[in-house]
Amino acid sequence: LNSARESLYIVSQFAANFFEDQLWNSADGKAIGLSYFKERGFREDIIKKFNLGYSPDVWDALTLEAEKNGHAVEYLEKTGLSIRNDKGKLYDRFRGRVMFPIHNFTGRVIGFGGRTLKTDKNVPKYVNSPESDIYHKSNVLYGLFHAKKAIRDQDNCYLVEGYADVLAVHQAYVENVVASSGTSLTIEQIKLIARFTQNVTILYDGDAAGIKASLRGLDMILEEGLNVKVVSFPDGDDPDSYMHKVGAGAFKTYIEEQRQDFILYKANILLAEAGKDPIKKAGIIRDIVESIAKIPDNIKASVFIKECSHLLEIEERVLLTELNAIKVAKS
Ligand code: UTP
Ligand code: MN
Ligand code: MN
Ligand code: MN
Ligand code: MN
Repeated sequence: LNSARESLYIVSQFAANFFEDQLWNSADGKAIGLSYFKERGFREDIIKKFNLGYSPDVWDALTLEAEKNGHAVEYLEKTGLSIRNDKGKLYDRFRGRVMFPIHNFTGRVIGFGGRTLKTDKNVPKYVNSPESDIYHKSNVLYGLFHAKKAIRDQDNCYLVEGYADVLAVHQAYVENVVASSGTSLTIEQIKLIARFTQNVTILYDGDAAGIKASLRGLDMILEEGLNVKVVSFPDGDDPDSYMHKVGAGAFKTYIEEQRQDFILYKANILLAEAGKDPIKKAGIIRDIVESIAKIPDNIKASVFIKECSHLLEIEERVLLTELNAIKVAKS
């Protein structure tokens, strides 16, 4: 047992308890934090399930409380919960924010995301814990601890962009959902999902950034040999805003029925961009075949070539020639 690491876990759990207690029991926590979550439409059972919290809007509330309870300054600094200023004085990283504790997949608290309550564009929307000996962002999926059983049972993992999206999908009684929060999707995160299922369904934001991230993500997922589908949301919506707009029941139906095979999804996006231009269409075909070429399993790849052939009205043998050319060029 590594006692330094253990101390980081312990102080992180202390902080989570502190923020959660503030949310439910302090005057500001209730008036500002809890009402914020409620105004966004989150139910109490969801707020409790994810141990959401509130960080007081003062310089050193957590730092002082932790020191008072015997936690060494060293671990407050190493987890990034406290920061030392030029004068050597410690202050809290998270102040006046609603708090999302991040758990590892065994359920221990390893870090935090804190959302501002201000609408000021100059204030970062989310502040996250820095990397530490217990928190390696690229290896962590937000929500995995609360999702892993459902991911196995459903044999599918929904992948969303943000903390609030994970909560909203749970609120719609869908528990097999995780987010790659604080970073863009990594290979390590996909490998983590692959321990529970071979099937991923991307539910990214319905804006330009979300679409771009979904195209990058699906290629990475294919390359790891997993199956990938995508559900799109109307422009300007993300799973969270959409769930609150249409309600839990309609949301669940939507993600089950609007699920598209990655080829269809990619083809629709690219074809909409290209219009009727034949040269652009050729470029799109090549682009889609490049995604298929990432699939390690040849039989699966040939099934997708067939689907692509129907969808784009191109002879299968032309696509196969292109596929082989890409594979030769890569090898
Ligand atoms: P979004 O900008 O889509 O935020 O970023 P969101 O999750 O919809 O947030 P709400 O609904 O307004 O509360 C998606 C995710 O990217 C990370 C967070 O994990 C966020 O949930 N992010 C975003 C940051 O880490 N920092 C930021 O400043 C913004
Ligand atoms: Mn380490
Ligand atoms: Mn976004
Ligand atoms: Mn979003
Ligand atoms: Mn959102």
